[in-house]
Amino acid sequence: MAEHEALSTDGARSGLRFYGRRKGRPLRALMKRLLDEKLPQCAFDLARPLEDQFGRQVDRYLEIGFGGGEHLAGLATAMPDCDFIGAEPFINGVASLLRHLEEGQLSNVRIWPDDVRLILPALGQASLAGAFVMFPDPWPKKRHADRRILQPALLGRLAMMIRPGGRLVLATDDPTAKSWLLQAAMAHDDFIWTARRPHDWRHRPSDLPETRYMRKADHAGRKSAWFLFQRR
Ligand SMILES: C[S@@+](CC[C@H](N)C(=O)[O-])C[C@H]1O[C@@H](n2cnc3c(N)ncnc32)[C@H](O)[C@@H]1O
Repeated sequence: MAEHEALSTDGARSGLRFYGRRKGRPLRALMKRLLDEKLPQCAFDLARPLEDQFGRQVDRYLEIGFGGGEHLAGLATAMPDCDFIGAEPFINGVASLLRHLEEGQLSNVRIWPDDVRLILPALGQASLAGAFVMFPDPWPKKRHADRRILQPALLGRLAMMIRPGGRLVLATDDPTAKSWLLQAAMAHDDFIWTARRPHDWRHRPSDLPETRYMRKADHAGRKSAWFLFQRR
């Protein structure tokens, strides 16, 4: 079994139900090489303290469901003095992020190639300067509401992990997800929505890179929203 397959089986073992795709198109040789050789070098290690994994103590951010990794790699490039953890169970997306990291020679990202919920216990109180949930799967049907990523348990965990004054960024183009993301975060006492006027959530903040799903939405003429919250 290849190393990346071993790394990605934990979700199945934990009993947590993940509803998305773990595999897409067959991987090209380059992607396979990246998964076999580069992923073990930058995989998030549940058994090691964060400072050891990064070798330094700086602001640290978490991206949940990084997809193809454009946004995460963009942040890591723009903020070389910060460290990043990205979680994504879709192995083709993991390979894509690895390609971005290799091309950009980025060393400030650790990847968890599985369900983010499995690493939450390893992230301590106030251990993060912020977290990003960009264009999550919308699960618009009411009967699928329990599949939506931003459940009260995850929000509670994020409130614990993000230090006071830190940021929680939520973005989507889906009308139902706009409601449930906003409602979920606003319902939590520890997060304050920072928008003062519609422009603040209707436009991508200048320090946030584009994401693949954001571009898809743009091309299809769907308006995206960026909800920026601050941890009290
Ligand atoms: C609609 S895609 C958006 C990808 C990317 N953020 C973007 O904007 O292009 C949602 C992503 O969230 C990932 N995802 C869903 N549930 C997850 C979970 N429990 N932990 C980590 N990632 C998850 C999916 O695999 C998928 O790649």
